[in-house]
Amino acid sequence: MAEIFESTNLSGIELANRLVRSATWEGLATSDGAVTPALLRIHEDLAEGGVGLIISSYLYIQAVGKQSPGQIGVYSDDLISGLAELARAVSDRNGKIVGQIVHCGGQADRGHTGGLRPVAPSAIESPGYSVTPRKLTIDEIRKIIDDFAAAARRLQKASFDGVQLHGAHGYLLAQFLSPLRNQRTDEYGGSVENRARFSLEVYRAVRSAVGADFPIMIKLNANDFLDGSTTEEDSCYLAAALAAEGIDAIEVSGGTPGSGKLGAARPNIKKPTDEAYFLPQAEAIRRAAPSIPLMLVGGMRSPEVMEEILAAGTADYFSMSRPLIREPGLPRRWESGDRSRAACISCLGCFGPARKGEGISCVQAAGPP
Ligand SMILES: Cc1cc2nc3c(=O)[nH]c(=O)nc-3n(C[C@H](O)[C@H](O)[C@H](O)COP(=O)(O)O)c2cc1C
Ligand code: SF4
Repeated sequence: MAEIFESTNLSGIELANRLVRSATWEGLATSDGAVTPALLRIHEDLAEGGVGLIISSYLYIQAVGKQSPGQIGVYSDDLISGLAELARAVSDRNGKIVGQIVHCGGQADRGHTGGLRPVAPSAIESPGYSVTPRKLTIDEIRKIIDDFAAAARRLQKASFDGVQLHGAHGYLLAQFLSPLRNQRTDEYGGSVENRARFSLEVYRAVRSAVGADFPIMIKLNANDFLDGSTTEEDSCYLAAALAAEGIDAIEVSGGTPGSGKLGAARPNIKKPTDEAYFLPQAEAIRRAAPSIPLMLVGGMRSPEVMEEILAAGTADYFSMSRPLIREPGLPRRWESGDRSRAACISCLGCFGPARKGEGISCVQAAGPP
């Protein structure tokens, strides 16, 4: 029977266990997106804490696609040496790291794009955002696809173990897939085949840049939980198409910043029945792409819940973000026999320090105020 603490081989990456650090923005890069010593320390702690795979925070591939202060960049060769230091901080501690690459599209923030107006498939405001983005031209779409490929190649040069496309949480790949936010009438809009085209073209360009042996994964929104936006009908089509082309893993997520209580990082995960809140969506993606390793994110807090899902065959890996902000050593704690649930109380207070420019940290770590 499969177990959480067993080693697996994921397309050539030897993973010590089935626990994954889901991508988590730290807010600690320089204003140009370069890696800082504070970022190295976070990754050292995670690797020492025993998580099988670390997925980096969302690394922006173009200045116009940047959303957050202190976000790490991968848009220029000048950034490779810092990224290589990050990868080395992890590999020196026997950890593995995959870089998540993103274009935030209509959810980019002009305050961080150098004043550039955000761009999107259509000139439609993203729910929860007040700026109307500019509609991308076909030439600009091609340039973004090339820049995704160049970014992935930089991560490969920096000795990352693989790359993850950010196709979740309402960012550019998800914007193209969404019938709500993509109202184009050309080959990138309309039918699900057309709305999925951008993600598939990004995947193919990345694959041709990094070769057959470098793992490419995707974090995919199975459902945006927004009226008229992406549902399992769309995401299962894309998952099956990516599976047919050789994607190495799918991390199933959901929600966007405009989805209210049904967002990606939900509050108040208090009991086992609150956990694994994207399980129904994972079941659908599993059926659509049965042969592809599946990572489940969203409220994973207890080893028992993970074991049940693993035994049912719905997911192969379990991704966590907030629990590892509070306890980077959680995997070691569980492995050494203390299997009590993650200490994170899912209050979302960790965004507070980052908004003040101090980076993400757990405001409950010293105990509730
Ligand atoms: C502080 C913070 C930063 C995040 N940054 C990212 C990110 O860079 N990329 C991403 O795909 N998801 C990001 N997420 C979402 C998480 O990866 C994850 O999908 C979500 O928090 C649910 O998992 P959890 O319940 O284990 O926190 C972030 C979440 C938090 C709390
Ligand atoms: S502040 Fe701490 S306890 Fe609250 S969600 Fe963030 S990591 Fe979890």
